[in-house]
Amino acid sequence: MKIAITGATGFVGQRLVERLQAEGHELRILSQRPTVAQQLTGCQVFDTATETSWLAALEGADAVVNLAGEPIAEQRWTPAQKQRLKNSRVQTTRALVTAITAATQKPQVLVTASAIGYYGTSETAQFTEESAAGQDYLAEICQAWEQEAQAVTVSGTRLVTLRIGIVVGPGGAIGKMLGPFKLFAGGPIGSGRQWVSWIQREDLVSLILEAIANPSYQGTYNATAPQAVRMADLSATLGEVLQRPSWLPVPAFALEALLGEGALLVLEGQQVLPKRLEAAGFQFRYPDLKSALQQFLP
Ligand SMILES: NC(=O)c1ccc[n+]([C@@H]2O[C@H](COP(=O)([O-])OP(=O)(O)OC[C@H]3O[C@@H](n4cnc5c(N)ncnc54)[C@H](OP(=O)(O)O)[C@@H]3O)[C@@H](O)[C@H]2O)c1
Repeated sequence: MKIAITGATGFVGQRLVERLQAEGHELRILSQRPTVAQQLTGCQVFDTATETSWLAALEGADAVVNLAGEPIAEQRWTPAQKQRLKNSRVQTTRALVTAITAATQKPQVLVTASAIGYYGTSETAQFTEESAAGQDYLAEICQAWEQEAQAVTVSGTRLVTLRIGIVVGPGGAIGKMLGPFKLFAGGPIGSGRQWVSWIQREDLVSLILEAIANPSYQGTYNATAPQAVRMADLSATLGEVLQRPSWLPVPAFALEALLGEGALLVLEGQQVLPKRLEAAGFQFRYPDLKSALQQFLP
């Protein structure tokens, strides 16, 4: 298949590219860093800053995967940064949908990222795909992001929206937690009671491949493993797998000082259930956190 991808240079995208390449697909990478993308993937790259790139990359593609977005937890959430977080997702998705609409040979499917932040946060509620959206800024971003993608269905392209949980793999949020653990200074972040709904990166990539190939996938899916954990359990399991202690909690104020409002993402989680994936019979290779961590940790 010919597959166009945004966000291909990221933590999820890089692994997706490797697995698609192993299956022999022809990839078209849309990137705001064309040189980096070219070096990382060796694929045909289109510069997202050039308006004509979008249609050129999309025309005749069979499938599109949309993973682009300014990283959520790397900078303090100033008003300008909050706008960047939202615009990077909404505008990329809008450009994709516009190009799909304009293409004479339209892709059959658009698989687009969203996030479990859609639901807001709670220590007690369980969220399925039918649950209402939350009230915080991340929920606002996710709603705007999903709404942009929704417009693609008018042109007859199948839409699969994945509300992705914390991706477990050698990078991302878990990658950031590994450093202190390796230095014997690891521990839970905040109260430890908050829920962490997660998915192993290999399972997420398998899910994207399945969503492309299987036409029965349509609409919104929670992309999370069946067993969410509390932060304290995540920390204890990390300590166990790394054979390091897990006793040095990271206080909430430290994270707040770093990220401002963005710290809520980590300090207050949500328990999200993959109800539609289970109904679809999706097989998680890493349904429990310990095996998910052992996949990439010694
Ligand atoms: N990792 C997680 O735990 C997690 C959880 C929930 C949802 N998600 C969502 O899943 C998607 C992929 O996650 P990831 O962890 O692979 O993300 P990532 O490593 O941060 O990579 C995202 C990619 O988006 C592009 N990008 C970065 N800043 C941008 C900006 N300001 N405007 C437009 N494009 C920009 C970059 O690609 P180029 O430079 O090549 O354009 C980057 O490689 C993201 O949309 C993320 O929000 C991730």
